[in-house]
This record gives sequence, C-alpha cells and structure tokens, in this order.
Amino acid sequence: CYTANGADYRGTQNQTSQYAGKPCLFWNETFEHPYNTLKYPNGEGGLGEHNYCRNPDGDVSPWCYIAEHEDGIYWKYCEIPSCRMPGNLGCYKDHGEPPPLTGTSETSNKLTIQTCISSCRSQQFKFAGMESGYACFCGNNPDYWRYGEAASTECNSVCFGDHTQPCGGDGRVILFDTLIGACGGNYTSATAVIYSPDFPDTYGTGKACYWTIQVPGASQIHFSFALFEIKDATDMVELLDGYTYHVLARFNGKNRPPRTFNISLDFVILYFFSDEINQAQGFAIRYR
Ligand SMILES: *[C@@H]1O[C@H](CO)[C@@H](O)[C@H](O)[C@H]1NC(C)=O
Ligand SMILES: *[C@@H]1O[C@H](CO)[C@@H](O)[C@H](O)[C@H]1NC(C)=O
Ligand SMILES: *[C@@H]1O[C@H](CO)[C@@H](O)[C@H](O)[C@H]1NC(C)=O
Ligand SMILES: *[C@@H]1O[C@H](CO)[C@@H](O)[C@H](O)[C@H]1NC(C)=O
Repeated sequence: CYTANGADYRGTQNQTSQYAGKPCLFWNETFEHPYNTLKYPNGEGGLGEHNYCRNPDGDVSPWCYIAEHEDGIYWKYCEIPSCRMPGNLGCYKDHGEPPPLTGTSETSNKLTIQTCISSCRSQQFKFAGMESGYACFCGNNPDYWRYGEAASTECNSVCFGDHTQPCGGDGRVILFDTLIGACGGNYTSATAVIYSPDFPDTYGTGKACYWTIQVPGASQIHFSFALFEIKDATDMVELLDGYTYHVLARFNGKNRPPRTFNISLDFVILYFFSDEINQAQGFAIRYR
C-alpha cells in the first residue's frame, strides 16, 4: 500500500480482519452487487477470480462484500495491518485533553491529508494528524501513541476536501510524517520512500523539486517505483549524478520507468518538474 486509501493494495487478505473477521465473497460471484468480474473483466481495481480485499471504488480503505444481498450489512472495510503507506504512522485514540499532538490546530471544510501536512510542515512540525474529516493537528510529540493505537478501519471519516482520503474518525486521529509530499529534501538514511510533491493529493502545477540522496559508503543505490502516475510528456522525474549533475534517467508519461533499477553511485539527485497543465497522482519511489 503506497496510496493513502489502499487503492493499490494487491495483497491476499481474504477476510475483514485477521482475527474473527468475516470471510470475503469472491469478486467473480458478487453479481448482485456493482463490483464484480463480469462488469470489470480486465482486472480493473484489482478485481479477479479471488476474494481478496480491494478498493475498486475510491473508498477510504480496501473492503469486500460479505453477503450476497444488499440488506443488512453486506460489505465491510478490511483491517489489514500491512496496508499502510510508508509515512502514515497509524490511527490513534484521542480523548481530547490534551490531544495526541499539542502544537497548533485548525479546522477546514476543504481539509485533505496534504493541506494539513503542508500547514504543519510550514510551521516546522514533524507530525500532522487529521480527525473527524475536518480537523488538523500539528505537533512534535513523540508519544502521540499514548492513548493507544486503534484499528485502521476506525479512521474512516472521509476528508471534507477529498472523499477518497481517510481523515481520522470520531475520537480517532490519523497521523502522518510531514516529510510526505514535500517539494524537496535531503536523504541520508540507508532506505526511504520519497513521494511526489503534494502527495497523496495530486501534484500541483509549476513544480520544480530536488531531493538529494546521499548514502555514505554505498556502492550502489537500488530504486523501485511503487507508484508512477504522470500522464503528461512534459511533467517528468529525473535522476542525476549527485557530483556531476549529469542526467542518468528521465521518465514521464511517454517514457515510464522500469519497476526497479540500480545506480552505481552513493550520491543521486531526484528531480521533479511539472508544467502548468495536467495534474496526476504522481509517484512513490523507494530507494535502498
Ligand atoms: C483465505 O486464504 C487462505 C490461504 O489461501 C485459505 O486457506 C482460506 O481458506 C481463505 N479463506 C476464505 C474465507 O476464503
Ligand atoms: C470464482 O473463482 C474461484 C477461484 O478461481 C473458483 O473456484 C470459482 O468456481 C469461481 N466462481 C465462479 C462462479 O466461476
Ligand atoms: C538540503 O541541503 C541543501 C544543501 O545543504 C540546503 O540548501 C537545502 O535547504 C536542504 N533542503 C532541505 C529541504 O532541507
Ligand atoms: C541491482 O543490484 C542488486 C544487487 O547487486 C541485484 O541483485 C539486482 O539484480 C540489480 N537489479 C537490476 C535491475 O539491475
């Protein structure tokens, strides 16, 4: 899972939770419901001849049907421990006084994950938390978990500004590292994930961002794109030699990257550029 709502989840959990969950129905047998393999025969949304949790409809989390007919509860969100985008720190309980993050807070009826993250990042906070779909908390509290972690399915309030994103829940705050979606940064750790600017919102127009990846002692850096959605031929991602600024690779909507590749250097610069038209989800790249 690299997207905030797990639309890219392709794992094999086939019940709504690992302990005492409800078994999921097979997508090739749910013809009474809108999502099934007859309507989506080409694997759209990850549907197929299986009963794995999926998010084909842009909901806030993967789910599955648990009953043939639409009376009573016939679908449920799946609680999938592994389905958390890197940088999403989890869903936590909030009893109010004091909240898990004690920096600043604000509310907005246009809240998205990234509007909250950007606001916290611009105030130099390390963490951003969203609650009830419209509240944004910033802070540096390393003990944000002190009231306990909640099931990810309890953070299922949609963000008021983007109904495909989860923005916490009732008394539940979803926490993110404010590095997510920054335009640029300096990385020195042995492994990390770098997201396109504004992620998980679509990237903005007119961006030019640089990230340095310098891993002292490395003989090569291994890259893998977990996500690459750039539709335009002028919006692009480049990798440059950190010492000479020589362009090693350039990817865009016409020239997609291989899933993985290596660069035999210990210092690489990642560059992203977007023009004034066409926005898209962007990218998530893991290096190691
Ligand atoms: C889920 O998958 C496991 C492993 O493939 C299998 O043993 C189990 O029977 C499946 N459960 C359901 C409800 O389909
Ligand atoms: C759905 O797919 C499963 C797994 O391939 C298969 O066992 C089952 O018979 C299929 N159901 C139908 C109605 O084709
Ligand atoms: C990264 O390092 C460069 C050079 O030291 C510095 O100019 C830049 O502000 C740093 N960027 C961030 C986002 O910290
Ligand atoms: C990258 O390097 C690793 C380790 O040397 C190797 O196992 C892998 O096959 C390489 N991958 C590519 C795409 O060249």
